[in-house]
Amino acid sequence: MPQIFPKALNPIAKMIVLGLPLLGGLTGVTGAAFYRSSYATGQGDTPAQPVAFSHAHHVGQLGIHCEYCHTTVEKSGFANIPPTKTCMNCHQQIWQGADMLAPVRESYKKDKPIEWNRVHNLPHYAYFNHSIHVAKGVGCVSCHGQLDQQNLTMQSSTLLMEWCIACHRTPEKHLRPQKEVFNMKWDAAQAGPNPKTGKPYTQLELGLELKEKHKVRDAVTLTNCSMCHR
Ligand code: HEC
Ligand code: HEC
Ligand code: HEC
Ligand code: HEC
Ligand code: HEC
Repeated sequence: MPQIFPKALNPIAKMIVLGLPLLGGLTGVTGAAFYRSSYATGQGDTPAQPVAFSHAHHVGQLGIHCEYCHTTVEKSGFANIPPTKTCMNCHQQIWQGADMLAPVRESYKKDKPIEWNRVHNLPHYAYFNHSIHVAKGVGCVSCHGQLDQQNLTMQSSTLLMEWCIACHRTPEKHLRPQKEVFNMKWDAAQAGPNPKTGKPYTQLELGLELKEKHKVRDAVTLTNCSMCHR
């Protein structure tokens, strides 16, 4: 009977016999790490834009309300990007000759929308809806970060399923009064003293009260696969 392996494994056979399972294991681990890496998720990315629009200037400094531009965010699943007309409400007078605004004037003149690049983009098989999050008291800042300080708009969260689920399990960590949803600087202490403790509200105390008040469903319902994969 011929030998299947030489007596002493030659280096290549050794690598195959011993190395492959190891390599397999390693790629599994690396695969998982890669899946969560910012490179793969896009977290922290600031895609280039045709106009260097700054939320830091328009929101942080000028104090323009989110809904002045994103008019549909409370009413619909999708938060619209404003039409050029909205920019021209101001930029017909302010900075009307600036080079930085040339593409905005061009778009207005030719009646052709500015082609903004998407910052956030979920895969099509995941269902997301803004209006319910806003209605139940999840603030823009919980998912989009401190936009009032960003010059170029950044993807602040991973947008991974595990990120969605973490909040769906314990929404009380993030709930706020509905009227504070757009406020980038709100925290629970601003709700005043908790009558039960006499001390300023903590996020958890307030969150649990709001969970009841806003009729937020339980964790089992909110982590049901069909909630997000319809
Ligand atoms: C003056 C108009 C204006 C205001 C006010 C404004 N935005 Fe925006 N927003 C834009 C424009 C234009 C874009 C597209 C360019 C970009 O991504 O920077 C955008 C993009 C975004 C995006 C990224 C969209 C994507 O492509 O994924 C988010 C998130 C966002 N805005 C949230 C907010 C929030 C939250 C507020 C209030 C704190 C706000 N915006 C206020 C005009 C505005
Ligand atoms: C409510 C008024 C208002 C609206 C609406 C508005 N802007 Fe502005 N924008 C300003 C003012 C004021 C400045 C000057 C800011 C400064 O210098 O601090 C400015 C500055 C800018 C600049 C120069 C760079 C900077 O950020 O300072 C760009 C580019 C710009 N705006 C783009 C846009 C675009 C695009 C839109 C529409 C999506 C828009 N703006 C809507 C008031 C507005
Ligand atoms: C629970 C998390 C969450 C909250 C709260 C939230 N967003 Fe978003 N936002 C997302 C996700 C996820 C996307 C990407 C959606 C997609 O790709 O389909 C997104 C996308 C956007 C976009 C791009 C257009 C769109 O709808 O895809 C804008 C503009 C935006 N958000 C603005 C806002 C504003 C303004 C608020 C506060 C009123 C807000 N968001 C609150 C998670 C959130
Ligand atoms: C910071 C907290 C938070 C994050 C992050 C979050 N959600 Fe939610 N989500 C909520 C809350 C609160 C509700 C309201 C639950 C209720 O009404 O019972 C909700 C409700 C929903 C609903 C129910 C809509 C309906 O019509 O019943 C869907 C779908 C959903 N979220 C999808 C997502 C997806 C997809 C992501 C991630 C991309 C996400 N959510 C991230 C807090 C969050
Ligand atoms: C709260 C919303 C939400 C719920 C609940 C949810 N998913 Fe997801 N799921 C997402 C989002 C968002 C993505 C896309 C982002 C990503 O790949 O992580 C995704 C991606 C996936 C993917 C493809 C990417 C991967 O991880 O391999 C599978 C498979 C999946 N989900 C299965 C499930 C199953 C099974 C359940 C129920 C146990 C479930 N999901 C519950 C939001 C959700």
